Amino acid sequence: MGLARGLPGPVVPCPALMSPRPPGCAVHGARGLARSGRAGLTLTLYRPLLRMTQTANRARLVLGNWKMHGSLAENAALLDALRAADAASHCQIGVCVPFPYLAQAAQALAGSAITWGAQDVSAQAKGAFTGEVSAGMLKEFGCRWALAGHSERRTLHGESDQLVADKARAALEQGLVPVVCVGESLEQRESGQTLAVIERQLAPVLALGREAVAGMVLAYEPVWAIGTGRTATPEQAQEVHAAIRAALTTLGAPQVQVLYGGSVKAANAATLFAMADIDGALVGGASLVAEEFLRIAAN
Ligand code: 13P
Repeated sequence: MGLARGLPGPVVPCPALMSPRPPGCAVHGARGLARSGRAGLTLTLYRPLLRMTQTANRARLVLGNWKMHGSLAENAALLDALRAADAASHCQIGVCVPFPYLAQAAQALAGSAITWGAQDVSAQAKGAFTGEVSAGMLKEFGCRWALAGHSERRTLHGESDQLVADKARAALEQGLVPVVCVGESLEQRESGQTLAVIERQLAPVLALGREAVAGMVLAYEPVWAIGTGRTATPEQAQEVHAAIRAALTTLGAPQVQVLYGGSVKAANAATLFAMADIDGALVGGASLVAEEFLRIAAN
């Protein structure tokens, strides 16, 4: 059971966690259909549906994740260069900056076509949570985006799948768009667990329901491709994106943008963006260089 390989049928991740259970879910739908010999029919029905979603109004989105980089002076130059770019020359772009620089980003980008956001958000609304930053606080600084569950937070800070979902919900409650990141390690990929890992990571997120998920962006970032210069091939990325798209489609939220992240550069962006289910990129290192970032977004 899990996200299907290749062109997936209506298999929903961890349906036990989903409430209400979606039609065609693995426990209540697809398995029963398969047992009754109707799985082939279901696949046939889903193929045109998937094809429709590939051309359905999913705007390209390129987000920069600055991680723990920058200074007031460096940021000023980068933000000014982004702002100076002709908005017609690139797709929708945004930058996710360190918390202390949100005011600077807000000031530099106000009134421009460029959006900004944070790299993390607390699952809590307020209270005795030293070091945490709430979604309400981010909202006050004009944030549009809040990353949730970046692999560096999952591995270095022990964030669980459930915590990531709770963070996404907290962001949504304040009108932010959570950008929920998922991705497998090299060891998990090499042992054939990629789709199972993505399924597990997404399960509590999808369990928030169709309406919540429709307000999110998802990002597939294979851990082994982050900061390594080793990008997933377009086919490797598309396989996972297609599986995520199938789960979104089954949930009734096929229009959710799914970004790819991991060593995206101007030189490889076009081939990734040519894939049917890749709607843009979450860019780390290359987002720190205005020209490179803008070239990625010009695709
Ligand atoms: P790089 O683009 O530096 O590989 O980082 C990807 C990433 O982690 C974006 O969130």
